[in-house]
Amino acid sequence: MAEESSSAAAEIGQQKYYGHKLKEMSRRAFEDLENFWSEIAENLVWFKKWDKVLEWDPPFARWFVGGVLNASYNALDANIKKGLKNKVAYFWEGEEGKTRTLTYYQLWKEVNKFANVLKKLGVKKGDRISIYLPMIPELPIAMLAAARIGALHSVVFSGFSAEALANRINDAEAKILITADGLYRRGKVIPLKKNADEALKLTKSVEKVIVVKRVGLEDTPMTEGRDYWWDDLMKDAEPYCPPEPMEATDPLFILYTSGTTGKPKGVVHSTGGYLVWVWATLKWAFDLKPDDIWWCTADIGWITGHSYIVYGPLLHGVTQIMYDGAPDYPAPDRWWEIVEKYGVTALYTAPTAIRMHMKFGEQWAKKHDLSTLRILGTVGEPINPEAWKWYYEIIGNDRCPIIDTWWQTETGGFMISPAAGIDLVPLKPGSATFPLPGIAVDVVNEDGEPVKPYERGYLVVLAPWPGMLMTLWRDPERYKEVYWSKFQPNSKLKFPIQPPAVYYTGDYAMKDEEGYLWLMGRADDVIKVAGHRIGTAEVESAFVSHPAVAEAAVIGKPDPVKGETIVAFIILKSGYSPSEELRKELRTWIRKVIGPVATPEAIFFVSSLPKTRSGKIMRRLLKAIVSGKQLGDITTLEDASSIEEAKRAVESLRKSMGEGKS
Ligand code: WTA
Repeated sequence: MAEESSSAAAEIGQQKYYGHKLKEMSRRAFEDLENFWSEIAENLVWFKKWDKVLEWDPPFARWFVGGVLNASYNALDANIKKGLKNKVAYFWEGEEGKTRTLTYYQLWKEVNKFANVLKKLGVKKGDRISIYLPMIPELPIAMLAAARIGALHSVVFSGFSAEALANRINDAEAKILITADGLYRRGKVIPLKKNADEALKLTKSVEKVIVVKRVGLEDTPMTEGRDYWWDDLMKDAEPYCPPEPMEATDPLFILYTSGTTGKPKGVVHSTGGYLVWVWATLKWAFDLKPDDIWWCTADIGWITGHSYIVYGPLLHGVTQIMYDGAPDYPAPDRWWEIVEKYGVTALYTAPTAIRMHMKFGEQWAKKHDLSTLRILGTVGEPINPEAWKWYYEIIGNDRCPIIDTWWQTETGGFMISPAAGIDLVPLKPGSATFPLPGIAVDVVNEDGEPVKPYERGYLVVLAPWPGMLMTLWRDPERYKEVYWSKFQPNSKLKFPIQPPAVYYTGDYAMKDEEGYLWLMGRADDVIKVAGHRIGTAEVESAFVSHPAVAEAAVIGKPDPVKGETIVAFIILKSGYSPSEELRKELRTWIRKVIGPVATPEAIFFVSSLPKTRSGKIMRRLLKAIVSGKQLGDITTLEDASSIEEAKRAVESLRKSMGEGKS
C-alpha cells in the first residue's frame, strides 16, 4: 500500500512536471524585481501607488515605498465592489454545535461598527490592541477593525496564561484588551475573562476591556468603567468607518513568538509587503479558485491563522471554514464531518494533527465523503513520510497533492513549498520542495558556506522578500542580532548575487541531488510541541521562578504524535526534596506561568546537570538520553556523573510509567 502510494505521489508530479515556469518566475523575481512585484501588487487596491518596490538597507527592507492602502479595505470593501457582497466569508462552527455564517457584506458591517467602537474608546492610528479570544468570528472582526483605523493588533493565543498575556500586553503597551467570558475545550468551559483579569493586575497600559459573550458565563467579573460587553458597545455603533490610508511601510500588526531567550519577540509585519506576500503565496501554493472552500485548521493566535485564515483568504475573496474546538470532540471524526458538511476543497493543517488522526484510525475518515477535497497542505514542523502518505491516501484518496509549506512567524507567509498555482513539481513525501519565486535560500555550514547535497546544514535566506518582518517591536538591535548576525556574507554565497546580509532561520535543512529541500527541525533552542512554537529558555525561566527550583534544563523529546514534547531536568533548592506532589505542582506552575501549551510531559529531579567547563548546559546530551540515542562528542563535558544520573532518572520514570507509554 505504502509503495503504491509513493509511486502515485511521484506520478502526480510527473504528469504535470514542467518546473520551467517556476524557474522562469524565480529568475524574473530577481532580474526584473521592480516589474515582477509591481505586477503582483496590482492585484491589491492601492489608494496611492508605490514609488519604489524595494528599499534595501540591510537588514532593514522597505517594500512598496510610497504606496498607500488599507488591509481591511482590501479584505472586505474591495471584494464587495467586485460583486462578492453576498458570498460567504466564514462558515463558523463551534465545538458545542452552534454555527454562524458571515457573508462578506455581514463581515464588512461588523468590522465597520467595531472600528467605530474602537475609535469611540479613543483608539488612534498606531495604538496597540491586544486580543485574547478563542476562534470566534469576533477575532477576525477585531483584527480587521484595528487594521481599518490603523491600530496594530497583537493577538495572544487563548491557550497562553495570564502571565504570558500580561508580558505581551506590557511589551506592546496595549491600550485595549479584547477577550471573551470563556471558551469551550473538549466540552469543558474555561473562564477566559478570569485569566484576563489576572493579567490586567500585572499591566498598566490597558484602559478599556471589551468582552465577548462566548459561553454566557453567569459569574463573569466585570470592572465598572473599564470593562464593556462587546454587544452593548456594538448596539449603538455607527455603521460606516472610512478606512485609514496607511503607508505600505506602516506596521500592520505585532505577533509575539518564542526565541532562544526567555523573552518572547514582538515580530512586526508591514502593511503593504505583508499583504502582497500573503496574497501571492496563497495563490502560488494552493491555486485558490473562486468556488474553493478553504479550511485552515490553525488557531488565529499563531501566524498561520493571521496569514491564512484572516488576511490571505479574505484578500482572495474565498469562502472559509472557521472551527472553534478540538479535532476529536465529541468524536474523532469531527473534522471529517465538517469537511463533508461544507464540501471543503482545500484543507491546510499540521503534521501533528495528521498523526493524531492516524492514531485514531482511518475508519473515522472513511465514515465520511471527502471527495470534495482537491488539495491538502501542511505546516508547522517537518512531516514524516508515514504521515504524508496517510494524509495522501486516506484523506486525499490518492488524488490530492500535498503542499508542504515551510515558513515562520517572521517570514509572514510560505517560503518553501510546492506551487500548485504555478507549476507543480513531482512531490517527495517529507520534502517542502523548492523556494517560491522571489525567495533565495541556501543550506550552509558553521562558516556560512554552502554544504554538499545530503549534508545537513543551516537554512539561510539570501534576499529580502515582501513578507519579511520589519523588525522586532521596539528592539531593532535584537532584530539584527537574532536574524542577521550568525552568518556573514561570503563569496561562496552567490545566489542570485552575493548577498549583503544573510538571514538565519534557526532551522536545519538538507538538499538532495535534485535540489529539493528537506527541512529537519530547529537548530536552536526552540521546540515545536504539536506545531506550537515554544522556547526552552522560556520554560526554564518559568521553572526557576518557582521557589523550589534552583536550576532547570528543558529539552524537546521526539514524540510520535506531537512531534516533540517538553521534558525538564530540575535541580531543587536545598530544603526541598523530590516527590510526586512537587512534580505535579511544577506542572501546574508551568501551566500557570506560560499556559497549557507548555505543559511538560516529564519532569526529572537531578542533583547536577551536564555542563561544559564554561558552565553552559549541554542540552544536546539530555536530549540524546531521553530519546535513547548515542551521546556523541562529550569531550567538553565537565562532570560525567551528571550523565549517569540523568540516565538513571529517565530509566526509573520509564519503569514506573511502563515502557510502552513514553
Ligand atoms: C517549523 C509556523 C518543517 C520550522 C508557520 C520553522 C516547519 C518554525 C515547516 C516556525 C515545514 C514550519 N516543515 N518545519 N513545512 N513549517 N516549520 O513561527 O522549524 O510558529 O522555523 O511558524 O516551524 O514556526 P512558527
